[in-house]
Amino acid sequence: MDFHLAITGQRSLTRQIYDQIRSAILDGRLRGGQRLPGTRELAHQLNLSRKTVVLAYDMLLAEGMIAARLGSGTYVEDLTLAPRRMAASACPITVAPYWQKLPSLPVFPRQQIPFDFGLGVPDLSHFPWSLWRSILRSRSRLTPQSSQSYVQSSGYPPLRDAIASYVGFSRAVRCTADDVIVTNGAQQAFQLIADVLIQPGTVVAMEYPGYSMARLVFLARGAKVVDIPVDQEGLMVKCLPRNAKLVFTTPSHQFPTGVVMSYPRRVGLLEWARSRGAAIIEDDYDSEFRFEGRPLESLQSMDPTAVIYVGTFSKSLFPGLRVGFMVSPQPLRAALLAAKHLTDWHSPVLPQAAVATFISDGHFARHIRKVRRLYSDRRNRLVAEVQRSLSDWLTILPSGTGLHLAATLKQDLSADAVAAAALAAGVRLFPMPGGIAFGVGTIEASQIRSATEKLHDVFRALRRGTQRSTRIHS
Ligand SMILES: Cc1ncc(COP(=O)(O)O)c(C=O)c1O
Repeated sequence: MDFHLAITGQRSLTRQIYDQIRSAILDGRLRGGQRLPGTRELAHQLNLSRKTVVLAYDMLLAEGMIAARLGSGTYVEDLTLAPRRMAASACPITVAPYWQKLPSLPVFPRQQIPFDFGLGVPDLSHFPWSLWRSILRSRSRLTPQSSQSYVQSSGYPPLRDAIASYVGFSRAVRCTADDVIVTNGAQQAFQLIADVLIQPGTVVAMEYPGYSMARLVFLARGAKVVDIPVDQEGLMVKCLPRNAKLVFTTPSHQFPTGVVMSYPRRVGLLEWARSRGAAIIEDDYDSEFRFEGRPLESLQSMDPTAVIYVGTFSKSLFPGLRVGFMVSPQPLRAALLAAKHLTDWHSPVLPQAAVATFISDGHFARHIRKVRRLYSDRRNRLVAEVQRSLSDWLTILPSGTGLHLAATLKQDLSADAVAAAALAAGVRLFPMPGGIAFGVGTIEASQIRSATEKLHDVFRALRRGTQRSTRIHS
């Protein structure tokens, strides 16, 4: 690439070249070892005499900023300078108030740790990568010419078709391919819904504890988020504020407690929403993984006019794919499509085409069957080990679905303190109010006993600490 130099005005031409190359080196735009254009080439580019450029290079050579290598050209010296950042005071632009205090966001890639019960990531080592690569290769050859340009905002038609039959079959979602909008993960679906339903001050009801990444999207749009407690039947419908316009819920596997919303609660929630003209987001993020119990149908299947059903392939395939989808009530669809169009026209076609083939050729169902066995084994071991060695501290909350299990803390310990002490001992957990959650996506079954033994030590040390401090205070 050409290095950009701007020659203007009456100042010495040599000085302008010297100043610009020097400041590019000092602020890190030109790095040590990078080759500068030859003097003849640069003089030609700038339409100047070669002598002007040679003089500028000589000044930089004399200062040790650049060095000439015989027969190969002129290079920037490695000055091991930290790239200089623009001073904040030099920039008069301010961001909108919400973004002035940045929200705390999950950090990825996560630091590797010996025993990882982190949430949200499936087991990537069991994904059929070579099959996936060959599908990608063949789809990049076969995807029709018409799909290589812009396509519909709703997504690649064969994928919408595959999604409609998959969720229709396995989650009783009432839809056709025409009702599906493909998004970049569930996260984008939340954003698009927020775009079309939220104005500053709109009241949004969220399960508490709940999924912070959805909560932050609503807050960023100026919503007033009201936390609704969750009990053993799921979201407590009687606590919903009268004026909520939108309710966010994870009824199949409440995030993070794992509770499944009871049937009476579902009926109550739908009645509540219908009577107030409110919309419900049903985030069905990991219901592919059912291990026991009778499957409860999706909320959407009970009333497609009140519920926006959101799904994702982040857990069933892999999160880096960024493919999710939503099925909305008909009257919202045009606005959601326009919002998608304004955001990014449509999701990239090739990954959509590959997922469509992966589903329609039966690989998806096969993969889910395989990893379900794997996760089921890990869950069973975890439950057994917690009961065996951690029952003084933890009670596992019953849940027959999903990639994580939650447990309540029996003693008066702070979940954040437990998670921090566990991390220091090499075990990653997810703290939640009054308890902790264990993801089973990344830990091997064979590691679970050692991990719970470590946790046993962590709890004992924490208890000794609290006993000591109670004694000091009493
Ligand atoms: C509750 C919940 N919803 C949705 C998602 C999926 O988000 P995405 O499809 O954007 O990866 C996650 C991922 O961790 C989640 O935990």
